[in-house]
Amino acid sequence: MRLLDGKLIADQIKAEIAKEVKETMLDKGMNAPHLAAVLVGDDPASETYVTSKEKACKEVGFISSVYKYPSTLTQQKLLEVVDFLNKDEEVDGFIVQLPLPKHIDERKIIERINPAKDVDGFHPVNLGRMVLNLPAYLPATPMGIMTLLERYSIETAGKHCVVLGRSHIVGTPVSILMSRKANPGNATVTLCHSYTKDLGILTNMADILIVAMGMLEFVTADMVKKGAIVVDVGMHRIPSDETKSGFRLKGDVKFDEVSRKCSYISPVPGGVGLMTIVSLLQNTLKAAKKEIIF
Ligand code: GUN
Repeated sequence: MRLLDGKLIADQIKAEIAKEVKETMLDKGMNAPHLAAVLVGDDPASETYVTSKEKACKEVGFISSVYKYPSTLTQQKLLEVVDFLNKDEEVDGFIVQLPLPKHIDERKIIERINPAKDVDGFHPVNLGRMVLNLPAYLPATPMGIMTLLERYSIETAGKHCVVLGRSHIVGTPVSILMSRKANPGNATVTLCHSYTKDLGILTNMADILIVAMGMLEFVTADMVKKGAIVVDVGMHRIPSDETKSGFRLKGDVKFDEVSRKCSYISPVPGGVGLMTIVSLLQNTLKAAKKEIIF
């Protein structure tokens, strides 16, 4: 078994980005790319993600800013924040951290974001362009998975890829990316969800198994074909006395037993999560360079 080491690849890509920012922007007197994040409420996981995004920006020489609001913020006020960031010429790209409080309609907020600044790739224009294989900001987690497969030279063409979970953020877009006429891509994809029957039979047919269902250690060794490639997108915070933060992370896959059976596996932590952040940096760099014309 080999690890799909998200830390190793994320560090490589961050070094590449930092070099490009220095040589092509800062040394020429241009501004660094600027990523803004909007955080509503005090969900600890969301706060951790936003802090990690800020830290990653610093590492590559980007400017970052965080707009933080209490969970009582109205939908109208949040729409006004989005309008403000859409217009702010200093900001190249921004994200609204999800989930939002229940009284706010996430779709309404996302649809208000200017697609040219939608570095999360959640706007329908970006998702539509992704489906059509047109230049687009790809959603960060699916993009990170594709980059991980690419950097490890994993052959995906003609392979059977089984995706567990059909969320708008991960399962649905990654199933499209894996089936697109592209490299990585060109896979035959089965997308499984809560109505899927005989799940274990399907997962046992997977050459590549992408698990994004949000269920702690759901995938066990008996569900995985020998030699399969397993990508774990799960992110569960388990209370722990042994760590400084008071929790440790676990995935959707029972790592200890599955890792003995597969050929490659992405660990949690140290796998897809770090790739998500790096994809956001790559999208922000693209936005600063106005690489995608809408
Ligand atoms: N919540 C969980 N994942 C993400 C993400 O990639 N972007 C945003 N904005 N919110 C999230």
